[in-house]
Amino acid sequence: MYLTKEEEKILDGEAGEIYSKAMRILVTLGDIFKADKLINIDSTQIAGVSYKTIGDAGLEFLEDWAKGNVQVAVESWMNPAGMDLDEWNELGFPKDFAKKQLRIIKALLAMGIKQSCTCTPYHNDLIPIKGSHIAWSESSAVIFANSVLGAMTNREGGPSALSAAIIGKTPNYGLHLEENRKGQVLFDINFMLNNFDFTLLGYHIGELSNDKIPVIKGFKKASWTQLKALGAGMAASGGVSMFMIPDITPESRLIHSPEVYEVTREDLTIVQKKLTNDGEPDIITFGCPHCSLEEVNEIIQKIKTEKKVWIFTSKKIKKQFKNLPTNIRIFSDTCMVVAPLEEMGIGCLATDSTKAAHYSQNLSKIKSILMSREELLNEN
Ligand code: F3S
Repeated sequence: MYLTKEEEKILDGEAGEIYSKAMRILVTLGDIFKADKLINIDSTQIAGVSYKTIGDAGLEFLEDWAKGNVQVAVESWMNPAGMDLDEWNELGFPKDFAKKQLRIIKALLAMGIKQSCTCTPYHNDLIPIKGSHIAWSESSAVIFANSVLGAMTNREGGPSALSAAIIGKTPNYGLHLEENRKGQVLFDINFMLNNFDFTLLGYHIGELSNDKIPVIKGFKKASWTQLKALGAGMAASGGVSMFMIPDITPESRLIHSPEVYEVTREDLTIVQKKLTNDGEPDIITFGCPHCSLEEVNEIIQKIKTEKKVWIFTSKKIKKQFKNLPTNIRIFSDTCMVVAPLEEMGIGCLATDSTKAAHYSQNLSKIKSILMSREELLNEN
C-alpha cells in the first residue's frame, strides 16, 4: 500500500509508539485487503467498549494505549458499554464489573473518544454525509450507514476503528470503493410486511447472504425503524454490511446474474421459532438497536403489560423521560446483550429483535422469546 512521507514517519515511530502501532494496524489491514492507499475519514464509531465483551485483555490494551498520550484525529463515538454509566448502582449492576467498566470508559475518554455509548449514532446527531468515508465498527450501525445513509464504511473491529480514529484515515478497500457496492444476491418478497417482519426478514436474508450484498425487491416504503431492524437482523445472522432496496436506499445496483431467492412467510415463521425458547421471560426488553426518541415515546404510551420492561437507548434520549410507571426502566449507555444480565439474575428475556435473541442465546446463554412489539406491549 502506498504511504505518504508523513504516514511513513508515523509508522517509523516519529510521532510516538502508539501512533506507530495504530498505523501498523491500518497498514497490515490495507496490505491484506490490497488497498492502494489510506483515505481520510469523517468519523469513527468504536465497538468493544463493554467489559463483558473485551474482558481484562481488552481493558489492559486500552489503558496501555491511553497512557501513550494519543488523541483521536476525527469525531469518534463509543458503542454501548456494559452498564448504565450514571445509575449502575441503583439499577443493580455488579460492583466488580462496574469498577472495570469505568476504567475502560476512562481510557477511551483520555484518547478523546466521546462517551456517546450508543449503537444508533444516527438517532443522536451523528449522521454521516452521503458519499463520505467513515470507519464504524458496530455491525448494525455499519449496515445502516452504508445502506440507508449512503456513507462508506467497512465493518471495522474495535482495534481497527480505534486506529482509524487516531490516524484519521482508513485503508481504501471493500465498501470504500464504488465498484464493490453492487448487489450480488436478489431476494423477492411477494407478501405484505408488517413491522415485526423486518427483523425476521433481515435475519433470514443474513443467513443466506453471508457477506454478500443483498438486493431486496417487493416493497416501496420503509421507515428508519424498519430499516434499522432489517439491517441489524442481517448483520447478526450473516456478515452483511450493506443492503439495497430499489426506490428506498440511496444506492441500488445488481451484478449480472445474481443468486435469486423467493422469500415466503413460512421462512419468517421459521426464524421466529428458531430464536424462541420455552419459558417465562424475567424481563421484556426493547432497544436492540437502541431506540429512537419516537420509539421510546410510542412504547411508553402503548404499554399495557405490568411485567418488568427494560428499554435501552442513548443518554440524551433517556434524559427526556421522568416519572415512569414502576415496572418500566430506561437504561442508557448499554443494552440487553452487552450488559452482564446473566450475573444480574436474568435467565430469560423477551425481545422484538432477532439480533438481541441471537446474541442472548449465543453470547449470554440466556433464553430468549421473540415476539412482535405489539404483543410484548400487551403481554400478561
Ligand atoms: Fe446495539 Fe446492543 Fe443490539 S449494541 S445493536 S442494542 S446488541
